[in-house]
Amino acid sequence: MNPIQRAAQQQFDRQSDRYGQGHILSDVSDVQDALRRLVWLKPGRALDVATGAGHTGLCLAGAGWQVTLADISTAMLERAATAARERGLHVETRQHAAESFPYAEDTFDLVTCRVAAHHFSDPVAFVRETTRVLKPDGALLLIDGSIEDGQPVAEEWIHAVEKLRDPSHHRFLSQGNWVRLCEAAGLTIVFSELQPFKQPDLNWYFDTAGTTPENRAKVLELVNRAPPEARSLFRLGEEDGKIVWWWQRLVLAARKPANQ
Ligand SMILES: C[S@@+](CC[C@H](N)C(=O)[O-])C[C@H]1O[C@@H](n2cnc3c(N)ncnc32)[C@H](O)[C@@H]1O
Repeated sequence: MNPIQRAAQQQFDRQSDRYGQGHILSDVSDVQDALRRLVWLKPGRALDVATGAGHTGLCLAGAGWQVTLADISTAMLERAATAARERGLHVETRQHAAESFPYAEDTFDLVTCRVAAHHFSDPVAFVRETTRVLKPDGALLLIDGSIEDGQPVAEEWIHAVEKLRDPSHHRFLSQGNWVRLCEAAGLTIVFSELQPFKQPDLNWYFDTAGTTPENRAKVLELVNRAPPEARSLFRLGEEDGKIVWWWQRLVLAARKPANQ
């Protein structure tokens, strides 16, 4: 395991109890909306990479998919397995990194990865592995925090904020970078959209990550001094005494060509 993977594993082993029902990720309407647009896909085998508490993978299992939930963190996988049992869903759990998969090529009809890829040490390896294990005509559904292309000031600002909040954050990739990375691996983009997603409370966001008091103070300083580019792109504001902003959430689907 490299230091970036180890940092993510330790962070999520420590914070796993924060990611269950009630977390904003338990609303899977983004996954359901995107899946409805993959009209050629019928429920088959699905791999949910970096499954966390399993919200995405369990949504698929509930819709008739045969699902493997994978994560680097033991505590997160245990949480996901418990949630599956409580919901009467049968799933397989596997512990491994997103950068290297223990599966044969052409195994899955669908690979999902939601709100996790910004932790990955090697997104190129993640997409290469995804392409390898997808069956021809299979799809990748990627949802993650991202950034518009051509926004260097806002990008550096959000990078500094996220890194202080959770030091296991690695990098948000821009929409264009994700598209290029998928195409370079041999996938065809089905759609790629930035769908802004409201982060309703900075203090809740700190608590979720277990942010230290020193780093909370530094983030607040960054918020107070946010450059106009970041302030407008992330719609930074205050509502009912809470600091709110909008994630640049990327929803991207890509298909493995039938002849690959
Ligand atoms: C925010 S949670 C994921 C949320 C989940 N996908 C959902 O839809 O609710 C992020 C997860 O990424 C996992 N993770 C981070 N880096 C990883 C890596 N390199 N390989 C595998 N899992 C990783 C963490 O352990 C954590 O469980």
